[in-house]
Amino acid sequence: MRSHYCGQVGESLLDRDVVLCGWVHRRRDHGGVIFLDLRDREGLVQVVFDPDAPESFAVAERVRSEFVVRVHGRVRRRPAGTENPALPTGAVEVLGRELEILNASETPPFPLEDESVSEEARLRHRYVDLRRAPMLERLRLRARVTRSLRAFLDARGFIDTETPILTRATPEGARDYLVPSRTHPGSFFALPQSPQLFKQLLMVSGLDRYYQIARCFRDEDLRADRQPEFTQLDIEVSFLDEGEFLPLIEEMIRTLFAEVLDVRLPDPIPRMDYDEALARFGSDRPDLRIPLELTELTDRMRGVDFKVFAGPANDPEGRVAALRLPHGATLSRKEIDEYTAFVGRFGARGLAYIKVSERGAGRQGLQSPILKFLPDAVIEAVLERTGAADGDLVFFGADRARVVNESLGALRVRLGHDRGLLEPGWRPLWVVGFPMFEWDERERRWTALHHPFTAPSETDPQALAADPGAARSRAYDLVLNGTEIGGGSIRIHRADLQAAVFGLLGISESEAQEKFGFLLEALRYGCPPHGGIAFGLDRLVMLMAGAESIRDVIAFPKTQTAACPLTQAPAPVADAQLRELGLALRRPPGGGS
Ligand code: AMO
Ligand code: AMP
Repeated sequence: MRSHYCGQVGESLLDRDVVLCGWVHRRRDHGGVIFLDLRDREGLVQVVFDPDAPESFAVAERVRSEFVVRVHGRVRRRPAGTENPALPTGAVEVLGRELEILNASETPPFPLEDESVSEEARLRHRYVDLRRAPMLERLRLRARVTRSLRAFLDARGFIDTETPILTRATPEGARDYLVPSRTHPGSFFALPQSPQLFKQLLMVSGLDRYYQIARCFRDEDLRADRQPEFTQLDIEVSFLDEGEFLPLIEEMIRTLFAEVLDVRLPDPIPRMDYDEALARFGSDRPDLRIPLELTELTDRMRGVDFKVFAGPANDPEGRVAALRLPHGATLSRKEIDEYTAFVGRFGARGLAYIKVSERGAGRQGLQSPILKFLPDAVIEAVLERTGAADGDLVFFGADRARVVNESLGALRVRLGHDRGLLEPGWRPLWVVGFPMFEWDERERRWTALHHPFTAPSETDPQALAADPGAARSRAYDLVLNGTEIGGGSIRIHRADLQAAVFGLLGISESEAQEKFGFLLEALRYGCPPHGGIAFGLDRLVMLMAGAESIRDVIAFPKTQTAACPLTQAPAPVADAQLRELGLALRRPPGGGS
């Protein structure tokens, strides 16, 4: 039907006949001649119709935006002065000879050029939204990313293997999506939160190196970087420890960035302990592009009279820390109030600060609501430790360590963006040395920081049980510019240790049997040492595309309320279908849906 893509028409085709198919991007009637900008996935080209060819001219008068047409014509140089340097095809145009309407279009739901269209409208008519060049570009980038990853893993002996979508619950910590079984009334499949258990079973099978681009399903509260249905690059290997596995994964990511973005990532990618990440950045996924760090003050505040600081400083769960903002003394009262409200969202009860106008002038050179509560030596120590200089501002957080870390960690990121402090470039980081367990005060039990199949560095079940809080796990997260793009661990491969970890997590033997009996059993049939990782493919592509949300790199994403405006899913189903599935009807009689 066609000889070239619109976007390919250039000077190399001068005086040649071409046949083009595409959408009418714009139609301009210049009284006498009609210009059509014809668009396909490769770009735009200008087609001219003049009244000397009355038949095609008459058709050109009828076409409208987004009509699908086919054009026969000859490529010619645009008259001097009418070239469009903004357009790759802008030096030439096609003199149209024949014009055929392949399909008409209703007026599009929104103009393609309109950047202010609501996301709801864009998702409702996603097929139109995807016609926009930047959207198409992101889908192509995503395809280049998966091609590079596959090529790398294929070349290194990884076997691409599919695992079930209809399965049992997998414990990644979110709510499950359930699918009722017709053949087993009252029983349900769960959609996998990840292929975790299956990939471990594949290691027991001796596959040695597995990967899969796998769809995962998690019913959790959605944010810009979370979707109920998302994609992982999922990987598992046998007989490699962290020292061998992490460099292999790094090489994959470095190759990806080099091939797709022509970017060199550091070799090796730096590693940081979880404790250090929290101490310095208040976060286990620090954005290293932001040159701000927390300063520890807990030890220095134990003896002060100021209860707001002394309380947390003397609490074993507490922390007092500072965050210095260079040139922050210019912040207005109103701005500081806004930041105080912002940290309040993370549970902080206030945001004390000291403005430094003249470091050498003692108390006269400082402005602060807390100056009167602190002795000279403490103030001097704060200025010393934070390295505060004239014109700086120092913020304080004092609370339970979790609140201080979350609030000052978020404030650090916010200030980085608000004050334009982000250094350009790519700053990947491995975060390692996570605690194995976290104490859940509300439920009064230990919970797993990763999933419960992660190996502890302590492999003696007794020693592990003696002090669970001290145990570290063999987990690792890869963080890129403040986003966790991947996470994994070396796994438990011994049934006794796995049972001990389940026990510490308060999972009873019968519950463990019921939920993961098949895994415990498999561990007893010759399970090799193994480990792996999963990357959030959507997040990775989002970062590489410079997009704001993973929705922008998914062809047909869900909204923030986990719905699809295009298909109107989820949707009610007929009573007959529910009956067939053995599901009781719970609709109020005569009530709505
Ligand atoms: P984890 O739960 O950390 O690990 O998930 C791995 C990566 O998947 C991405 N991710 C998400 N992306 C979009 N929407 C979501 N709702 C979402 N949830 C997670 C993140 C995350 O780093 N089975 C383990 C991996 C392993 O141990 O090998 C797992 O799923 O980028
Ligand atoms: P107050 O004594 O409550 O008036 O607080 C004095 C200053 O300390 C104010 O600037 C508060 O914002 C700040 N502040 C109060 N509680 C905390 C806290 N937990 N962490 C940091 N600053 C606080």
